[in-house]
Amino acid sequence: MTLPFQTLEWTGDALLLLDQRALPEKETMLRFTDAPGVAGAIRTMVVRGAPAIGVTAAFGLVLSVRADGAAGRPWREAFREAAETIGASRPTAVNLFWAIERMRRAAASLPDDPREARRMLEREAVAIRDEDVEANRRMGSHGAELLPDGASVLTHCNAGALATAGYGTALGVIRAAVAAGKKIHVYVDETRPFLQGARLTAWELMKDGIPCTLITDNMAAKLLGDGKIQAAIVGADRIAGNGDVANKIGTYGVAVLCRAHKVPFYVAAPCSTIDPAIRTGARIPIEERDGGEVTHLMGKRIAPDGVAVCNPAFDVTPARFVSAIVTEKGILRPPLARALRDLFR
Ligand code: MRU
Repeated sequence: MTLPFQTLEWTGDALLLLDQRALPEKETMLRFTDAPGVAGAIRTMVVRGAPAIGVTAAFGLVLSVRADGAAGRPWREAFREAAETIGASRPTAVNLFWAIERMRRAAASLPDDPREARRMLEREAVAIRDEDVEANRRMGSHGAELLPDGASVLTHCNAGALATAGYGTALGVIRAAVAAGKKIHVYVDETRPFLQGARLTAWELMKDGIPCTLITDNMAAKLLGDGKIQAAIVGADRIAGNGDVANKIGTYGVAVLCRAHKVPFYVAAPCSTIDPAIRTGARIPIEERDGGEVTHLMGKRIAPDGVAVCNPAFDVTPARFVSAIVTEKGILRPPLARALRDLFR
């Protein structure tokens, strides 16, 4: 299945990113040629979604090494500085730190010649990108069996091709089920306050011809109560060693609602999203974003000036609400702590 858009594209001397802030109105590719620009693109959500952030970070580090050595200082210095700047862009998605660490490890054994170093770093970033697409496809083929033919499936935020190097995690599983011939309908939570569901998931599914219905976040309970949803599937930004899942704010509510209605709640994420160093979800750093995202809707004020605002971008769903985690290595089932331990053994 070839998708009719590309989230990111590496040209050899620049990283092109589909500006996700402008969707669904405009499809614009923005061009980035240095690491601070790439860090800014992650921070301002030109690109978002845990795996896509990781891949973007890897190419940002390639861009920090000037092949002509024109920066007038050893490439390692620029690389180190770029790793810090990019690493400070967003705190929750562990894929960012995973990709930086992988690039750091690759950089450790490289020669002093910047041209050679950049070539090898580029090879590593391309591998990270390609492995991400491959992992998503594998997740799809493992996870498709979880979705019954004829099911309506609820999803929250955007865990699709737009959030990865291609194909998607949660939407990848849905894509694979559809490709296997199943009739699947998707209920798309709009995902307040940044509207990743309304702006991105609905756009991506419609581009792909997968039937979907947009709902506001507070409608999910009614639809579940009416028996209209047979499964929920979401992505993840970080999974702790005990199986607690950090994902877009509102995910926890969806999981609790699913449990109350005896509907399975699935998470699809590559192993690069699992952080076994963090024992429980309580230790996952949660990004707090600008209050303007809550007080304003598409640039227009909807709340009184000066009102106090709380805007955590993610929440943590306790492992006990998760029916299964789909990874590229297979489906993990409860008890998740044990399944995750076995996975990393
Ligand atoms: O703030 P965002 O848009 O980067 O948040 C994205 C999510 O929460 C996704 O569900 C998650 O990163 C998984 S993407 C495959």
